[in-house]
This record gives sequence, structure tokens and C-alpha cells, in this order.
Amino acid sequence: MNARERLIVALDLPSAQAAESMVSKLGDTVGFYKIGYQLAYAGGLPFAAGLITSGKQVFLDLKLHDIGNTVTKGVESVAQLGATFLTVHAYPQTMKAAVEGKKDSKLRILAVTVLTSYDDADLAAAGYAMSVGELAAARAARARDTGIDGLVCSAEEVANLRGIVGPGMVLVTPGIRPAGSTRDDQKRVMTPAKAIAAGADYLVVGRPVVEAPDPKAAAEAIVTEIERTKS
Ligand code: C5P
Repeated sequence: MNARERLIVALDLPSAQAAESMVSKLGDTVGFYKIGYQLAYAGGLPFAAGLITSGKQVFLDLKLHDIGNTVTKGVESVAQLGATFLTVHAYPQTMKAAVEGKKDSKLRILAVTVLTSYDDADLAAAGYAMSVGELAAARAARARDTGIDGLVCSAEEVANLRGIVGPGMVLVTPGIRPAGSTRDDQKRVMTPAKAIAAGADYLVVGRPVVEAPDPKAAAEAIVTEIERTKS
């Protein structure tokens, strides 16, 4: 995989029109885009289909979680769009249903182990008698055993989770901040170089690119940083 293929830009924008304008600014510098709730619920799915037709790869960050039958059918529909990645929450029934739904399509299912906005107190409030680290490790092992293709995790967790899931699963890391840029609301951040060196396969970057005065130059600088780093 070359450096350019490892950068995923998060299109956290309010409309398909705003997303289209960003994609044309970024041009050939970016080939992989993440679409989350904000854009998905504002015309982002037909927009995603158009992006795929134009040769880009798409990560649908929809974080599915429902009864098994509903998850399987939802994943079947997403697979027909031609997306590359889709997120589901790392609950056993949900992961099993998602793996059934993707069948032999090229869609790869990523599991979200524990949301990064959760700490031990939030888990206790939700009724779990486990730490975030314990629950994330248990869910990563379950994801591996269920045939899930990869995990979304913070770059700080990459080394530990790689030890649990082995080389066969992809690790996709948000919370990436080039040196000198603002953290925004991210608490645990890592530079592109450090995340790649820690073993991340893909980097998800949103605001440092889409809010930059020159988004194409910002994305190009990240690609160069990835290229220069041995993983
Ligand atoms: O703008 P920024 O680079 O912080 O965007 C990161 C993207 O990754 C956002 O779309 C955010 O929703 C997503 N994400 C995250 N942390 C997770 C999972 C997804 O920041 N644990």
C-alpha cells in the first residue's frame, strides 16, 4: 500500500455540495474519504455512490448497532454501494450479523471497540463492571474471532490491539494531528509519523485538512510524512 492510499480524509461537512467542493479542491492528493453521521444524513449516501463511481474509496462511519437481522440487511445495502469500510459497534450479535451481510462483497467491516469519549466512569454509568482497557481488549479479541476485518482505535492503542488481533486485521486511527496543529476536541492525539510507526494501517484526518487555509497542501504534507516513515 502506498502512502497516499493510507490517508483517509473525514468529510465532516454539512452538505453534499460542501463535500463536493472539498473533494474537488483535494483532487488527486486524496483517494479515500470518510463519511459520518453529519454528511450521511444530509445527502451523503448518494454522494458516496458518486465518489465511488469517480474512482475514490469510501469509508462509511455509520456505527451500526441493532438486532441481527436489521444489521445484516443494512450491511447488504451498504455493500451494494461499493464502499470499502463500514463501522459497527463491537457487540457480538452485531459483528456476526455484519459479517453475514457483507458476504463476498469487497466491503470490509470495522468494529468500534469502546468509543473514545468513554472513560471508566462512563462505562460504570452504562452498567459495565470493567475498565475501558479491559473491555476494548475483550471486544478486539471477539472481533478477531468473528471474522471482522479491522478496528477503529486511537493511535495510542494500536500497539496493544495489534498484539491481540495479529497482522490480519486493519487498524484505522483517528485523532491524528500534524506537529504544531490544534488538538480541537481530541484528547489523545498523535502525529501522522508516530501513528504509522506505531503500526496504524490507515490515518483518518478531518479538521487539520478540511479547515486548513489550503486543504490540498495540508493533505500533501501528511502524505509526505507517511512516505518518510517506516511502518
Ligand atoms: O477533525 P478530526 O481529525 O478530529 O476528525 C476525526 C474523525 O474521526 C471524525 O470524523 C470523528 O468522528 C472520527 N472518530 C474519532 N474518534 C473515534 C472514532 C471516529 O475522532 N474514536
